[in-house]
Amino acid sequence: MRIGSLTIPTPLFLSPLAGYTNLPFRLVVREVGGVGLCTTDLVNARSLLEKNHKALKLIETRAGDAPLAVQLFGSVAEEMRAAAVILESLGVASVDINMGCPVRKVCNVGGGSAMMTELDKTSALVRGMVNAVKIPVTAKMRLGWDDDNLTAPDLAHALEDVGVAAIFVHGRTRAQGFGGTVNLAGIRAVVQAVKTIPVIGNGDVVTPQAARMMIAETGCAGVSIGRGAFYNPWIFQHTNHFIATGELLPEPSFAERVRVMCRHLDLMVAVFGEELGCRMFRKVAPWYAKRFGPAHEFNKRVVQVSTRAEFQEILEKYRDWRQQFVGERGELLPRFQQPPMVASFMREPDSTTRSQIPVPKGPVEVW
Ligand SMILES: Cc1cc2nc3c(=O)[nH]c(=O)nc-3n(C[C@H](O)[C@H](O)[C@H](O)COP(=O)(O)O)c2cc1C
Repeated sequence: MRIGSLTIPTPLFLSPLAGYTNLPFRLVVREVGGVGLCTTDLVNARSLLEKNHKALKLIETRAGDAPLAVQLFGSVAEEMRAAAVILESLGVASVDINMGCPVRKVCNVGGGSAMMTELDKTSALVRGMVNAVKIPVTAKMRLGWDDDNLTAPDLAHALEDVGVAAIFVHGRTRAQGFGGTVNLAGIRAVVQAVKTIPVIGNGDVVTPQAARMMIAETGCAGVSIGRGAFYNPWIFQHTNHFIATGELLPEPSFAERVRVMCRHLDLMVAVFGEELGCRMFRKVAPWYAKRFGPAHEFNKRVVQVSTRAEFQEILEKYRDWRQQFVGERGELLPRFQQPPMVASFMREPDSTTRSQIPVPKGPVEVW
């Protein structure tokens, strides 16, 4: 797949998730395989220009973390342009502009989803960035501010005219937050509004079937996956396989999930140091545990983990405790197996399946 001058191996993207899509997680997803392009958390353009430590940490990268897109937010054209130039000089593959963030702090300064309401100003800002760099500039948006203001098709059209190389669209409005159903017709309207650039659909892609359905129903060129990747880092590999062959790969075993989780912790420690890495891992490990079967004994301890050795001890105790739920071949007994997730747009209206993908708690709850 091509995004401007950039060729990427698969049409599957890791969405920016502030607080989550850091270097260790991106490396984990890439090692598991199947992702085409990963994006950083959103980065404040001004902070980047000021060489703020936190902003620099957000764009930290290394061999194996390519191709990489950095997502910028900001509403001052000169700052956004200068930040894009810096990113290009650092070897970043593409720059994405956040136009979907509903957080008050971002919108109040005219960034995030506020950009969707001011077409001319936004087009001028983006034109400045596109003209300043050779790498592709992309934009990520929601369908609009609310159901009465579905501005994404018009905005996408205007951005294509000023040279944006691709559009990422989350099929919900700002007013919707993370509730309700992802609107595939809304994504399709964006696809139809542009002439040649790829539109990448986003929202609630939690299974390979959901990815295939989003592509089929909207005509989008690829899908971007956020929470589904955190929940299941294998989703890219499995989706590629499913789209190519129609065959669903079996779920990863418990041993494989544990192997990848431990690798994730090793990378957190390597990038953030043992103390901070372990503290940050307290909110990561429970996502892996969602598919372990009964896991409260693991979760209640892991949310207090401080060292790698402590983590290993928690894991060993949990392995012993978990034995009561597994059969002779080490597989979870059927009554403890969890049903697969179902994307909002694939749910039967009267379905009782547990289908809502959680929105992580904590300071980023408002996304
Ligand atoms: C915790 C969290 C953090 C997010 N951070 C960002 C961000 O930094 N930039 C952005 O454009 N979108 C952000 N989003 C939105 C996601 O990129 C994505 O559009 C949304 O979660 C829908 O996709 P999903 O259902 O695959 O998660 C965030 C979402 C969540 C849940």
